[in-house]
Amino acid sequence: MITISAIKADIGGYVGHSAMHPDILALGQEELEKARQRGLLVDCHATYCGDDLFLIMTHERGENDEEVHRLAWDTFIKGTELAKKLKLYGAGQDLLADAFSGNIRGAGPGSAEMEIDERPSEPIIVFMADKTSAGSFNLPFYKMFADPFNTAGLVIAESLYEGFTFEIQDVREHLQISLNTPEEAYYALILMGAPSRYSVKRVYARATKEIAAVSSTDKLSLIAGRYVGKDDPVAMARCQGNFPAVGEVLEPFTTAYLVEGWMRGSHHGPWMPVALKDATPSRFDGPPRIVALGFQLADGKLVGPRDMFDDPGFDNARAEANHVADYLRKHGPFEPHRLPLEEMEYTTMPIIAKKLASRWQPLT
Ligand code: F6R
Ligand code: MG
Ligand code: MG
Repeated sequence: MITISAIKADIGGYVGHSAMHPDILALGQEELEKARQRGLLVDCHATYCGDDLFLIMTHERGENDEEVHRLAWDTFIKGTELAKKLKLYGAGQDLLADAFSGNIRGAGPGSAEMEIDERPSEPIIVFMADKTSAGSFNLPFYKMFADPFNTAGLVIAESLYEGFTFEIQDVREHLQISLNTPEEAYYALILMGAPSRYSVKRVYARATKEIAAVSSTDKLSLIAGRYVGKDDPVAMARCQGNFPAVGEVLEPFTTAYLVEGWMRGSHHGPWMPVALKDATPSRFDGPPRIVALGFQLADGKLVGPRDMFDDPGFDNARAEANHVADYLRKHGPFEPHRLPLEEMEYTTMPIIAKKLASRWQPLT
């Protein structure tokens, strides 16, 4: 069995929240490489989306392994020290815990892990987001694994037509439920359609019970109880054979769906699929970005990556995202561009409410 762990954090932005400094990325890769050489990891790849550092690691130690999580935490700590030296913006912003306590979950960074029995050929796509929230993968996961208009295999491939099971978390109540599609699709959608409350954690193939996909559902605001930045989640999906094809896994991103995040984590914006070189959200601190890196696993080795959205096939989605961004920006501080009051990460409401309290009059 081999485990793929993707653990990520924003430990400082360059410039502002728009990108990652190359020295931080180099430090990330060096730390992982040292762990590979001492045998903790089988393989590793440090990468980025916007101002977030993503550590993609393969190993034989299973999910939630203390040493692998400690490696990620220590790497983020070292990266933070460097970010402080360079006076990068928001150095260490996602490291909410005072110290590592055995597991990265609940400490600030986001994580998505899956232990798999590597197939004779194992194509995997790792999705990395910036300027958006945990839960944003609900819609694309639904399309990949339950929408026959997206995934032809659900209708015409014997290996897929039994459908998939969605493990959905209620991130506020800390509960989870498993729902089977296609027959429980409507139950799944009432929950998944509210991504700020319900996040898809895992998807399984019903025919074989194999894990198909996983996403990080860690919500910074719920951990800290206050605004500390956006979750900028990570996800991964296995492709081909008993799973949707690579092209079916990428197809949901041909539409720039709206997600929560963007400026000050308080706006709806279009989720733009981009090549790594364009994963640098700057316009109004966005629009939110999504990068897809493809790997072939070979005995745990990460053969790749291929930069999957570096393809003219996604040009229309990018143009659509820009068009939608122009349109939404014209709304300025009005909903639905601005998030509803209870969802905003930044607000002056309590201060203004206090100032205006004595001036409210009964309706005349
Ligand atoms: C979004 C994000 C940025 C900041 C914004 C203001 O996730 O991180 O949009 O919220 O740049 O940052 P501060 O308040 O630090 O000046
Ligand atoms: Mg940031
Ligand atoms: Mg970020």
